[in-house]
Amino acid sequence: MAFIRSVIRGVGAHLPKRILSNDDLARLVDTSDAWIRERTGIVQRHIAEEGELTSDLGIAAARQALVRAAIDPIDIDLVVCATSTPDRTFPATAVRIQSGLGVSKGAAFDVQAVCSGFVYALSIADNFLKAGQFKRAVVVGAETFSRILDWKDRSTCVLFGDGAGAVVLEAQAQHGNREERGILATRIRSDGRFEELLYVDGGPGSTKTTGHLRMNGREVFRHAVQKISGVIEETLVMTGYAPDEIDLYVPHQANKRILDGIAQRLGIRPDKVVYTLAKHGNTSAASIPLALNQALEDHRLTEGRLVLMEAMGGGLTWGAALARW
Ligand code: UT7
Repeated sequence: MAFIRSVIRGVGAHLPKRILSNDDLARLVDTSDAWIRERTGIVQRHIAEEGELTSDLGIAAARQALVRAAIDPIDIDLVVCATSTPDRTFPATAVRIQSGLGVSKGAAFDVQAVCSGFVYALSIADNFLKAGQFKRAVVVGAETFSRILDWKDRSTCVLFGDGAGAVVLEAQAQHGNREERGILATRIRSDGRFEELLYVDGGPGSTKTTGHLRMNGREVFRHAVQKISGVIEETLVMTGYAPDEIDLYVPHQANKRILDGIAQRLGIRPDKVVYTLAKHGNTSAASIPLALNQALEDHRLTEGRLVLMEAMGGGLTWGAALARW
């Protein structure tokens, strides 16, 4: 039987035009540019305009990824969208992205794992491709978190931003050695005992409203370094790589102190870390593909690189993925 691996053929991203700076926020709530920079590393974030939907951002990101992959949308048979801010309660935002791309075959669905959504979606798509059920997938992380923020709560509204990123995966027959391109391993985890640390206090089945994001930041922070480091270590054991062999570390962008803590704990050199927090804030499921896109445009993401991705978010959910670019 042929060995199949999901090769990442293209990356794309899209950010709303409107920028909200820390100083802009200081006019809305009792905060300061200095506090936000020092505690998080965030300087600004992009905010979607009225009527600019999660699917609009996702479609733009996916189109760019397809162009860069030189793959015709009609050859896509799977669209997976990671989002916690869908356009509608149903259908899935992925279905809107699918039709926006002009795709009408295969399947499209959303994945709900909050900030870990992209790692979950990548893992699911990778497994479908490896099983031979689909050939080419678009995996999107797209969010408009500005719509679920409590703009009076300084402890959360300063952290998040809107945006989308996407990758195109293609199933390729290989020999199965770890030097070949593609996704080498993914690991996803969750523990619902920690739901109350990070959640949205509304929903169609409970309050019949959308609700607002609520977070015990200090507690989430406490879990982050330990849980993420653990799942990265599992991923490295699965593939037989050591942390110093990682060429590029592309983490979910929640807080610069978390990223630095993990890199330090695992012994990943600071020059290998991709930071987009300053410009994007925390864009939840969109942050990893947005960071991949940034690394690509900075000429840091080149063929053959060993790329580590990781995230943790509401649920709690967390996960990691290792890919040879
Ligand atoms: O992506 C999903 C996962 N999310 C995360 O990983 C987020 C994890 N958590 C964090 O990044 C950090 O906990 C935060 C950035 C949310 C908060 O940083 P912190 O260093 O943990 O601050 P804190 O919550 O312990 O608050 C310290 C102080 C408090 O004042 P007192 O009680 O010490 O007087 C807060 O009221 O900072 C205050 N504070 C603020 N001050 C100015 C909280 N938010 C703000 C603010 N501006 N925006």
